[in-house]
Amino acid sequence: MEPVKVGLLGLGTVGGGTVNVLKRNAKEIARRAGRGIVITHAAARDLNKPRICDTSGITLTSDPHAVVNDPNVQIVVELIGGDGLAYELVMRAIQQGKHVVTANKALIAKRGNEIFAAARDQGVVVAFEAAVAGGIPIIKAIREGLAGNHIQWLAGIINGTGNFILTEMRDKGRDFNDVLKEAQALGYAEADPTFDVEGIDAAHKLTILASIAFGIPLQFAAAYTEGITKITREDVTYAEELGYRIKHLGITKRTKQGIELRVHPTLIPERRLIANVDGVMNAVLVKGDAVGPTLYYGAGAGDEPTASAVVADLVDVVRALTSDPENRVPHLAFQPDALSDTPILPIDAVETAYYLRMQASDKPGVLADVTRILGDHQISIEAIIQKEPAPEMQTASVIMLTHRVLEKNMNDAIAKIEALDAINDKVTRIRVETLNAGK
Ligand code: NDP
Ligand code: HSE
Repeated sequence: MEPVKVGLLGLGTVGGGTVNVLKRNAKEIARRAGRGIVITHAAARDLNKPRICDTSGITLTSDPHAVVNDPNVQIVVELIGGDGLAYELVMRAIQQGKHVVTANKALIAKRGNEIFAAARDQGVVVAFEAAVAGGIPIIKAIREGLAGNHIQWLAGIINGTGNFILTEMRDKGRDFNDVLKEAQALGYAEADPTFDVEGIDAAHKLTILASIAFGIPLQFAAAYTEGITKITREDVTYAEELGYRIKHLGITKRTKQGIELRVHPTLIPERRLIANVDGVMNAVLVKGDAVGPTLYYGAGAGDEPTASAVVADLVDVVRALTSDPENRVPHLAFQPDALSDTPILPIDAVETAYYLRMQASDKPGVLADVTRILGDHQISIEAIIQKEPAPEMQTASVIMLTHRVLEKNMNDAIAKIEALDAINDKVTRIRVETLNAGK
């Protein structure tokens, strides 16, 4: 049988990795797919740029529309990024009845609902395994492997750049910006790296995971997002003294009131496996009612790990070429007419435990005032550490761990604590999750 002809949009980190993996493993891939898969056309902005892959045998152009429109191209792989040009190209491919593979989480999280509707109308597949957690086959695991479960919650380290930065800062005392530059040079970071460090990229991925876990439409705008730029060395050290690690987590959970959808720095007990996921590695912990907790671990970014997911999607799509469009795995795991309208909760309505750090004047009665305010807001304290002030300092650091409480109560209490004369500066607050498999 003739090999399937693929048009590649983008020849950067992931595009280059995809060319390399497809060429190197061509025989194995053909044995799995039932026929060969070859990239015949590719587009990049600057055709004179050096590439990480050998592009011989591929027709190159700087016009990505020419690739999509070429009648010989049967499957389009979108690896440009963003939700502008990429959206146009993907929609154009769908309208022409071409299957699409993409690694673009921004595109899926923000415009996936309309893209999937268009794909259904045309009877084509839009595959997006590489959009979440790089090389970890987490979409397939949740959508297919856990299809028998009522999924209760999931929590993940789903941005490689952010985890790489936090790990290097903690283990080697390196400067934030210096590590970010290295992550960019290694091809891990987004075109706009604020997406990585401010949690936007993780929120795109979490939006996708929540949809396939709970059968809800993609709702990126409802996600709560907080980045890692405000994490200090002090907080990392105090967290460790208390037996915790700070990780940047995406968490989504079903509750009686609705669905939590939040990305923020989180203290997690250091004995949890996920607390020990370092560098560019990602991990996603999924709690299903039947299977219990399952943990998925692997490289979250980089050329070949991400290409691994892109190529797996290509194999799936090639197998689907001859299948009945009505009987394919639904894009969002649940049948499109069976999606639920369970609301996404605002962050005020989320319940978690907290780590608090405040700078208190070294005089009697301050701690009593703080604990009274917490008590008035039904917040009970699990642990307190008071650090002796350095000789030249007028204030001491007070660190507290609280039990679980509604975020709204905590916000009100923090406002009152910050208004005390004896409290200097803002109170630092980091949410704490035990990720206890029993809950
Ligand atoms: P790169 O910036 O490395 O590559 C983007 C490619 O798109 C480049 O080859 C660029 O051309 C090309 N391109 C951009 N604009 C145009 C245009 N107007 N016309 C033609 N070509 C264009 O990005 P990545 O490979 O890192 O990321 C690609 C996608 O994969 C993104 O959606 C990203 O979020 C996602 N992703 C990335 C991962 C990673 O580890 N990097 C992991 C998982 C997902 P040129 O090279 O000439 O500039
Ligand atoms: N910038 C992303 C990250 C790429 O660092 O995780 C993988 O999605």
